[in-house]
Amino acid sequence: PIILSQSTFKHKDSLKYPFEERGLQFGDGIYEVIRIYHGNYYLFQEHVDRLYRSAEAIKLNIPFEKEELSRLLLELIKRNKMTSDGKLYLQVTRGSAPRDHVFPKGVTANLYAYIEDLPRNLEALENGVKTISIRDSRWENCYIKSLNLLPNVLAKQEASEQGCYEAVLHKDGVVTECSSSNIYLVKDGKIYTHPATKNILHGCVRMAVEKFAKDLNIPFIEESFTLDDIPSADEMFLSSSTSEITPVIQVDDIVIADGKPGEITEKLQEAYVKDAK
Ligand code: PDD
Repeated sequence: PIILSQSTFKHKDSLKYPFEERGLQFGDGIYEVIRIYHGNYYLFQEHVDRLYRSAEAIKLNIPFEKEELSRLLLELIKRNKMTSDGKLYLQVTRGSAPRDHVFPKGVTANLYAYIEDLPRNLEALENGVKTISIRDSRWENCYIKSLNLLPNVLAKQEASEQGCYEAVLHKDGVVTECSSSNIYLVKDGKIYTHPATKNILHGCVRMAVEKFAKDLNIPFIEESFTLDDIPSADEMFLSSSTSEITPVIQVDDIVIADGKPGEITEKLQEAYVKDAK
């Protein structure tokens, strides 16, 4: 596989990272994950725009203009002759320098990106997934797609150990999002989800869900719901670049409705598949 390192294309095994690297030592950086279908990026501009917003929020200078980076990422697909379904992972850190909390002077950010195959998870998309609820113990700037993912990793691990797909995060009972996806509750024909404040990542698929809902005349309400609302939910689903729109059929011991993916969820999934083609 060929990867992108700064503005150079290299073989995957030839990328060497110094141990004094701010991403490694401080988690001082940002990232993006972009879905690829048949060798084409999905929601590309949305992800690139969010990357630059995250960079600005942490005062990080990405070493390229948006247009140049976009061109390099498109070339990455060509160089790998990728025509399958997959994903791109891209990260930018504040660079390599002797360890000091203060930003280093005159140091260029480190950027790398790679793509790999990722088939659609048809089993989860068709049958839905089980989740657990966990207290959201993250910081106040979750809208930044930062490399600091320890709380997310611990939540996802807990879910995995309990045989579940995701962890639903809540602050004092108010559901924010999941460890690596956004979450929604459907009640009386309306979709509810946490508003796009600093407490959640503003998902690119979330933006797409909002648009699909509008096209389908389904009210999309940016109002948070609580753990107490879950037992009477008609449907629940989650969204992310890797999970697409996945039905949620259980949270802890609570089975959502009849334990099967809901009607509105399925309509949104259909709209997604049409859009991603
Ligand atoms: N995660 N919320 C969190 C905390 C996330 O990490 C993600 C994405 C999302 C959904 O964002 P989007 O729709 O733009 O993919 C919401 C990626 C997939 C990851 O960390 O692997």
